[in-house]
Amino acid sequence: MNCLILSSCHPFILSQQTELPYIQAMAPFLAYKCTLCGAEYAPDEVTYVCPKHGDSGNLEVLLDFAAIRQQTSVASIAASKDQSLWRYLPLLPVDDPGFVGTPLRNAGGTPLYRADRLAKALALPPGKLFIKDDGRNPTASFKDRASAVVVARSLMVGGASQIITTASSGNAAAALAGMAASVPIPTVIFVPHTAPQAKVAQLLMYGARVFLVQGSYDDAVDLSLQAAHEFGWYCRSTGYNPFTIEGKKTAAFEIAEQFTQAQANPPIHHWQVPDCVFVSVGDGNIISGIHKGFKDLLALGWIEKMPRIYGIQAAGSPAVYEAWKRHSEEIVQCPAETIADSISVGLPRDGVRGVRAATQTNGAYLTVTDEEILEAMRNLARGAAVFAEPAGATGYAGLVKAVGQGMIGETESVVVVVTGNGLKDVKSAMRAAGEATLVEPSLQALKKLV
Ligand SMILES: Cc1ncc(COP(=O)(O)O)c(C=O)c1O
Ligand SMILES: [Zn+2]
Repeated sequence: MNCLILSSCHPFILSQQTELPYIQAMAPFLAYKCTLCGAEYAPDEVTYVCPKHGDSGNLEVLLDFAAIRQQTSVASIAASKDQSLWRYLPLLPVDDPGFVGTPLRNAGGTPLYRADRLAKALALPPGKLFIKDDGRNPTASFKDRASAVVVARSLMVGGASQIITTASSGNAAAALAGMAASVPIPTVIFVPHTAPQAKVAQLLMYGARVFLVQGSYDDAVDLSLQAAHEFGWYCRSTGYNPFTIEGKKTAAFEIAEQFTQAQANPPIHHWQVPDCVFVSVGDGNIISGIHKGFKDLLALGWIEKMPRIYGIQAAGSPAVYEAWKRHSEEIVQCPAETIADSISVGLPRDGVRGVRAATQTNGAYLTVTDEEILEAMRNLARGAAVFAEPAGATGYAGLVKAVGQGMIGETESVVVVVTGNGLKDVKSAMRAAGEATLVEPSLQALKKLV
């Protein structure tokens, strides 16, 4: 076996492994289907994307819903004592990764808060607006869902010695490094050199080998794919690895289950869903995962309708919005300049499915300015006690705009997904929050100021 030592001070020896052995998943994983051409592949036939379109043919995992329905029900899930995303293991195409009691096994299971004060400010009725706070994940972002499932998949195909790599604007990498540290599995990370310090600190603390790419997020993605190919690392990069959306779909399961529990007379044999779901969009993988989750639940007959899904992009990084606006699935590279670093993506890697999440659900795309994002950060914190990073608050900024444009009915229910915690980017939080007041340590001085 060829070995490559990346750094003399780094403890990991990076082994080269090009062929990944396939181990049968417990969950009924039938095949992959290409998002672009519809070609289907057996689970052991391909690893990442459809071979016909370079790196861009994202694959969707096809599950055997008849088999799942026979083994699992809304009631059996409700009886589970597992409060993490692993309570939905019967709907996931991976084996149980084990490591009970670690952050890997505690990803997901984030709270759905009732946000009546925010609802009032938007002239929505009480009990209709909910905030899904995914900043409460172990590494403080939504991305833990994807990384937990990718780590489970990696354990199946390569074991704990298989190195996992990813490109990331920061959160996906922190999530991968954090989930991998539960095992432990070595990770190699590519982030733009401009990534907020807190996210880089997380990576280093979890023991990842971190490369700060002197370029954009898009450059980091390209380098991660090349590196994975060259060194035989298992690649988690968003919009490339088919298992990320399988993890992300668990947010839709939680929204359905928790929204049902929040109703006055919850049904027992099925779940209810809100009328609308709002989520921020960069690559388009989170929105696609949420869409896939609701599609799975519809296919199982566990929900009765599809919510309208709204994708919100920063006005300075609008590539998926632009395609949706043109009624096109062709994603054209756009500038990427926004305070919301996590959604600053010039060439979204999951844009086609991202567009479909809105078009196939009668939802829409909206863009919001950085000022609107900063205002949303303040309002979420003050009106619902949820501290979000800029991309985390972008979905809420979109809801404010959608309400202003009359897109939400007077009695409709809404879930806004907050995708990342505010401590991820303290510099932006300070920009949103304003200055604290300096005071001399005397009551007299304080009296002058109060
Ligand atoms: C906090 C946060 N929100 C939203 C997103 C957007 O997700 P996607 O790139 O899958 O659209 C990301 C992605 O990094 C993120 O970290
Ligand atoms: Zn294809």
